[in-house]
Amino acid sequence: MFNIAILGFGTVGQGTYEVLTQNASIIEKRVGDRINIKYILDLRDFPDHPYGDRVVHDYSVILNDPEIDLVAEMMGGSHPAYDFSKAALMEGKHVVTSNKEVVANFGVELLQIARENGVCYLFEASVGGGIPIIRPMINDLAQNRIISVSGILNGTTNYILTQMSEFGADFSETLKDAQAKGYAEANPAADIEGTDAARKIAILASLAYGKMIPVSMVHTEGITKITTADIEAAKSLGCAIKLIGHTCEIDGRIFIAVTPRLVSERDPLHGVCGVFNGISVDTDMLGRAMFYGRGAGKLPTASAVVADIIDAAMNGESATAPCSITSADAECVYPFEEYVCEVVYRFTDGSLKKVTEREADAFTGEGVGAVSRLRML
Ligand code: HSE
Repeated sequence: MFNIAILGFGTVGQGTYEVLTQNASIIEKRVGDRINIKYILDLRDFPDHPYGDRVVHDYSVILNDPEIDLVAEMMGGSHPAYDFSKAALMEGKHVVTSNKEVVANFGVELLQIARENGVCYLFEASVGGGIPIIRPMINDLAQNRIISVSGILNGTTNYILTQMSEFGADFSETLKDAQAKGYAEANPAADIEGTDAARKIAILASLAYGKMIPVSMVHTEGITKITTADIEAAKSLGCAIKLIGHTCEIDGRIFIAVTPRLVSERDPLHGVCGVFNGISVDTDMLGRAMFYGRGAGKLPTASAVVADIIDAAMNGESATAPCSITSADAECVYPFEEYVCEVVYRFTDGSLKKVTEREADAFTGEGVGAVSRLRML
């Protein structure tokens, strides 16, 4: 028996319970062992839940139980999630997580501690919800040089932009809807201001280039300034507006940014709508590979969490982990101001003009009447 503890019994924690119990027999057959949820840690009680008697409020019960093989951290936020994860790894327990904030901020340290203690720290669910992307980047693309990664990495904002585009929906009403569906973060500012996507592209960049860029160094713009008029202008150009996390190497440094971009209908990311995420990885040998699926929500995210639990149960210390990721400093990051791409200006009279970023200076003077400026992908 492989005993686990769930930390945080919110949307993803409860989804993990559902995946593990509903599919218990197929999981047991594939793993060759039974995965048992021994504890659930939460501040709340769940008296009517079938596993209500497994709820504990004191983390030391889990930490000090030698039967616990793995801790699945789905608490959200940096603290105490980071502290609990570190303590579990130091006790020789595997840790899996959906918590992109902890992975982006402390992943380098936690991976190192896992290695030192002969256990694994896995985070498939931290990027792209249920989409397998972390493991494929570590394993299946290991023989490729990564030219660039471009992704729709936040389900909430993609849902909002899609509803605005297809139904002319109101921004704040649609955000409430996304919250009710369990897509948004506890504080949805992280979604709409782009921070969540910044954490995710930082994690992907660390796998692509071996450097974890601090989120504070990721140029980040959200979708709060996008209007229905911008969306209609994009359509007239055969484009959709998507919040894109993008990373690539330029002159030996890492370019990394999250910005709303105009995505042409010829690009497969154009068709990634609603809560779905899409991640395009361009490589030197394979060429372009696309990863697509539900980027948020209870069961899709839990599906990725359970994939990591299975990996740890089957492979232990040898489960899929990146070899070496080090922390990046400012020198590693290509300055956003020097990044060149095509830009579309929308003017007060509704006209549009597509220029290169260098030519764009001509439109930033007073009295020109540019009301928005959107970068092409
Ligand atoms: N709030 C996140 C999103 C959840 O909307 O994508 C999944 O990471």
